[in-house]
Amino acid sequence: MSTAKKSVKRVTTHVLRAMKEQGIKISMLTAYDYSMARIVDDAGIDVVLVGDSASNVIHGHETTLPITLDQMIDHASSVVRAVKRALIVVDLPFGHYQGDSKNALKSAIRIMKESGAHAIKMEGGEFIVDSVKRIVSAGIPVMGHLGLTPQSIYKFGTYTVRAKEEEEAKILLSDATKLEKAGCFAMVLEKIPRQLAREASERLYVPTIGIGAGNGCDGQVLVTHDMLGINKGFSPRFLRRYANLYDVMKGAVEHYIEDVKSGDFPKDEEAY
Ligand code: KIV
Repeated sequence: MSTAKKSVKRVTTHVLRAMKEQGIKISMLTAYDYSMARIVDDAGIDVVLVGDSASNVIHGHETTLPITLDQMIDHASSVVRAVKRALIVVDLPFGHYQGDSKNALKSAIRIMKESGAHAIKMEGGEFIVDSVKRIVSAGIPVMGHLGLTPQSIYKFGTYTVRAKEEEEAKILLSDATKLEKAGCFAMVLEKIPRQLAREASERLYVPTIGIGAGNGCDGQVLVTHDMLGINKGFSPRFLRRYANLYDVMKGAVEHYIEDVKSGDFPKDEEAY
């Protein structure tokens, strides 16, 4: 019997571009730790996003702003140890790139060098173009993120749908083109009207990955804890729940507590 390991073909930024050209939809989910990353990679996800949504989902903060670069690197390193096939993209956290392209490059290099991830993601339009150019010219792939950009929540004030008005829609389309020209290999479009997302996807050569942006995007992303129903209190219209793991896990823990209290666990066959 051969002991040779079955080789797995890695998803790269070039593969994603080819998928767009061939009309094959791109699947992306978040993961912040080894065990979850293994599950989503084994299931065949194309892109794993180590999102700064870890700030909410893992660390319990109200916004994505408090998470640090060190914490993101720590999450990304665990994900890298688990993933064999998917492209791993890591969010540059708030405060580590805004307004300073040299600092942006320094942060991106730390993520790539210390975690072993494959690409970074940054939120924003025109104001990040210089940073994108600098990071891409250092050989680091960058994914853009337009529409609802949670790192700017205090500027916008709400998490409602963005770019519903013509003026904001025009700015989004122009930002998308600028980011593509600056070298972004893909773009997340979050919570914008589906017609606008479709138009952006048709205009761009690089793939768009939608979240709450309809079916015209080249791929879709969700926060894994939301789609698995681990995170119960978040139910926007765009979220499809594929499981109710909060109830499943809580039920299992209640059952365990009952068994411990009653003396049913462990039985003789579960002891030495
Ligand atoms: O941080 C995150 O999980 C994200 C996705 C919602 C796209 O940016």
